[in-house]
Amino acid sequence: MTDPRATLRTVDTSPAETDSDVLVVVVRAGASGQGPALLDGTDLPEHAVQAVASMLHRLGATGSADETTRLPSPDGVAAGTVLAVGVGRRDPDDPETLRRAMGAASRALVGVGSAVLAIPGDDSAQAAALEGALLGAYAFTAFRSGDSGRPPLAEVVVSGTAEAVVVRVEALAAAVNRARDWVNTPPGDLPPATFANQIVEAAADVPIEVEVLAEDELAEQGYGGIIGVGRGSAHPPRLVRLAYRPDGATAHLAIVGKGITFDSGGLSLKPAEAMIGMKTDMSGAAAAAAAAVAVAEVGLPVNVTVYAALAENMPSGSASRPQDVLRMYGGTTVEVLNTDAEGRLVMADALVRAGADEPDLLVDIATLTGACMVALGNRVAGLISDDADAAAQVKGAADAAGEQVWALPIPEEMRSKLDSQVADLANIGNRFGGALQAGAFLKEFVADGVAWAHLDIAGPARNTEGAYGYTPKGGTGFGVRTLMALADALSR
Ligand code: BES
Ligand code: MN
Ligand code: ZN
Repeated sequence: MTDPRATLRTVDTSPAETDSDVLVVVVRAGASGQGPALLDGTDLPEHAVQAVASMLHRLGATGSADETTRLPSPDGVAAGTVLAVGVGRRDPDDPETLRRAMGAASRALVGVGSAVLAIPGDDSAQAAALEGALLGAYAFTAFRSGDSGRPPLAEVVVSGTAEAVVVRVEALAAAVNRARDWVNTPPGDLPPATFANQIVEAAADVPIEVEVLAEDELAEQGYGGIIGVGRGSAHPPRLVRLAYRPDGATAHLAIVGKGITFDSGGLSLKPAEAMIGMKTDMSGAAAAAAAAVAVAEVGLPVNVTVYAALAENMPSGSASRPQDVLRMYGGTTVEVLNTDAEGRLVMADALVRAGADEPDLLVDIATLTGACMVALGNRVAGLISDDADAAAQVKGAADAAGEQVWALPIPEEMRSKLDSQVADLANIGNRFGGALQAGAFLKEFVADGVAWAHLDIAGPARNTEGAYGYTPKGGTGFGVRTLMALADALSR
């Protein structure tokens, strides 16, 4: 974690009067034959608004989403230059519109020292714009030698933003960027014990109680899923538990994250191409741990317990075999028919353990199935639950946070596909509805009476295409914002 991160500074001067390298303005696509127009409510003198619009028109800018155009500053603007960023025809009142636009602006400003944002709108618009700006200013260069090129935008300047908004956005952006760093770290540099230590370090400055179970304790206490997945690796597994218990909290949110630090498939080995990307198979654990730290930093009055189930899935002489039977935490037995369906095995242990804390809501987050990507593409997470209220709570949080999730069912017939000839259940079913079968499997490990929802983030956890909006290539930190929004909702 050596990369510098953009800092946030609030000033009392108006955006036009604020000294900085660049003034960022947001424009929408113009009507036919007309150039882009600044969003209504942009805090700039009218003559500057007109001058910027006129320059954009003459340059042939369209105001399409993520389009960025650098302009000389008109009279009355103290910044050295202006950057106009487009939102196309997206709804200007949707906070996600500003989040994406400011992210694209940040990405266009690599190598720049400071940018002041002219943000139209209320506190929620301000928060979204700041989030986008900080999330777009991301680079991961820890593993490059020498000069790694121009650094991201160094400083984001905002005018008159409420202190509470600043504190929350800073914590949130730091958490998303922390999760991205973990996801991007090469798998040999983040084996379970190292990842566990880094989570402990991340939680060191906030009031979070930490417990790390090492392999001997996991074996003694009967965590057969985590042990069974981790035993093929030279790097033994860990279960990390974070407990945040602020004064005045009543509600309790538990989060279980899949932390497979590398998924080779185990003895059911993946083909070479399918292993590329499998360093990101710990994205759920990264999001869960980073979100808990942010919740504690902000001091939200809600109890949060996180379980990060960390293991490396490798083939070796000590690896679990297809047809081995594992005894999970709590006693349920599982026949492993495919060692590449390992996520659900580590999640099962952690779900049982988390249920024992009797949370009001139990959410799990995992890069669980390729099938979920086939169903929903690579920007939308699958949301699976047998509880309509729990599903609605998670969907509401995701919508508020600007993360895309879509509900998938657990049809009744899915459970019988997991019948085993020798154990209580098998870890795979057939080819059809893989994400739903995984959901049906997890559900078996949720205690009766505990409200539960599962997020399959196999698609959105990483971005294998070009950067867009505030999303860089590589690890995205998906889920951190939804989990924090959920904690926020439960704290009210
Ligand atoms: N980590 C993978 C899921 C995955 C695949 C995430 C592609 C991101 C991109 C998971 O452990 C896995 O291997 N799932 C199998 C399940 C199958 C064996 C039932 C899959 O999806 O093929
Ligand atoms: Mn796998
Ligand atoms: Zn996996």
